[in-house]
Amino acid sequence: MSKIVVVAATGGIGRHLLNQSLAAGHEVTAVVRNPQRLGSTPARVVRCDLALPQAGLLEDAVAGADAVLSALGAPTAAETGVASIGTRAVVEAMTATGVRRLIVVSAASVGTVASPGRPDPPRHNPGDGVVMRHLIAPVAKKLFRRHYLDLAVMEDILRDSDLAWTVSRPPRLLETRLRRRYRTAFDVNVRSAMFISRADVASHMLAMIDDPSTVHRTVSIAY
Ligand SMILES: NC(=O)c1ccc[n+]([C@@H]2O[C@H](COP(=O)([O-])OP(=O)(O)OC[C@H]3O[C@@H](n4cnc5c(N)ncnc54)[C@H](OP(=O)(O)O)[C@@H]3O)[C@@H](O)[C@H]2O)c1
Repeated sequence: MSKIVVVAATGGIGRHLLNQSLAAGHEVTAVVRNPQRLGSTPARVVRCDLALPQAGLLEDAVAGADAVLSALGAPTAAETGVASIGTRAVVEAMTATGVRRLIVVSAASVGTVASPGRPDPPRHNPGDGVVMRHLIAPVAKKLFRRHYLDLAVMEDILRDSDLAWTVSRPPRLLETRLRRRYRTAFDVNVRSAMFISRADVASHMLAMIDDPSTVHRTVSIAY
């Protein structure tokens, strides 16, 4: 049994992280902005708005944890920026309390997004097929430009930290069942892949906690 903190435990992936961690017998702390959305849960619940994070609350939430898993992201365009702001606060709280293992959710498209810490990313992701490379990725990057930049800056914050971090980069998320069968790839996208379920992203994040080969890596996951 490990002590696990799930950040954004009310979200699509966050709920799977919470339920799968509890089902595996872990001692879980859920960091959420709206505890009513959780319903009744055996997890310890810490209320924190990560757009306006309070260091003391977060330090209390993460102190003593074996791992922190975050599925934080902006549910609406107006909330864009929360992934980088909230993750910076989580990283600072972990650094202050000596907690080292952090796994966060980013997105497959972020590998080709320029950010202050990575100003010259590759133009195309080597894993992307022709349709993804020339049709879907350019359109998605135009539509979700600010959202992807927020995630790219979040990745910069991890790379600049002293934590044992891992970035999970899924493509389009589905609300389909847990299969436990998926492909993964380090630092590039999974070849010609477009989908993954939120349940499988959560399952893979939990599996990566004790996998040293994933530390300081971006790991793509897809069917
Ligand atoms: N949709 C896709 O196809 C796709 C593909 C690749 C990557 N992604 C990335 O994956 C992330 C996770 O996906 P998802 O489906 O789980 O997203 P989601 O359901 O929108 O979950 C986002 C979580 O972040 C929380 N959150 C947002 N602002 C917050 C704040 N100020 N304080 C505290 N918590 C806050 C939300 O809390 P509430 O429950 O209170 O709103 C929710 O728990 C997305 O945000 C996106 O960046 C998405």
